[in-house]
Amino acid sequence: MTLKLPKIIGHRGVAAYAPENTIEGIHTAADMAVEWVELDVKITKDQVPMIFHDDTLDRTTNGSGLVANLTFEEIRNFECGSWFSDSFAGIRIPTLEEALEAVIDRNLGLNLEIKPCPGRERETAEAALDVLSQIWDDHDRLLISSFSLVSMETALIMAQDWPRALLIGEDWPENIAEVHDFLELSCINVNAKTVQREQTEQVMDMGLPILAYTVNDAEEARRLLRWGIDGVFSDAPDMVREALFSVH
Ligand code: G3P
Ligand code: MG
Repeated sequence: MTLKLPKIIGHRGVAAYAPENTIEGIHTAADMAVEWVELDVKITKDQVPMIFHDDTLDRTTNGSGLVANLTFEEIRNFECGSWFSDSFAGIRIPTLEEALEAVIDRNLGLNLEIKPCPGRERETAEAALDVLSQIWDDHDRLLISSFSLVSMETALIMAQDWPRALLIGEDWPENIAEVHDFLELSCINVNAKTVQREQTEQVMDMGLPILAYTVNDAEEARRLLRWGIDGVFSDAPDMVREALFSVH
């Protein structure tokens, strides 16, 4: 396995330019010459893996309520484009399968973030990895990640050979080296706003690459690159591209 991480990963597709986590977002990323996209996956009540960020439908669709309480058929009744712009009105939340087909069709790399609804950490990883394993075969351009240790442990069991990254939020784990030993990580994904330089050094000492989310500002991208970060997730790759490719 030779994981080839890009310097820029389009966040939720490219969330500044197309509705997040949609097929349209995947195509917009490819049109902008972004090499990889990050997408969030969670499961419906009837265990269908879908590309969606929030636990509830309210912010990004014309529906409401918990994703975990609705079936695939119910969720497909809602549209997820018009909150972003009228030009995207009517588009539907994609299944993982549909999103993977678009990512492969556009020859993109993928960071699939397992984003379980509370209490569904194991089954979300299982359902998502089951679909992923049937469709995806390019291990050099795939990274599976999650904030959930349970989801990551499930990924270790189901997909030991596939590159996996632990997502770290505001709270830095004291025992990160032990977590790495257990989960056999390929990368650590850190919060760009809260990560400290000593923490990035700790990860580099462990010999792992680091990605930072979510960076839409050139100055911030430059600082992180100086700290040794390998790449960033960005809603607006065009805003950080020059900064990332001009620093040596
Ligand atoms: O995977 C990086 C980033 O997407 C993590 O945060 O909340 O945007 O999924 P969030
Ligand atoms: Mg995400």
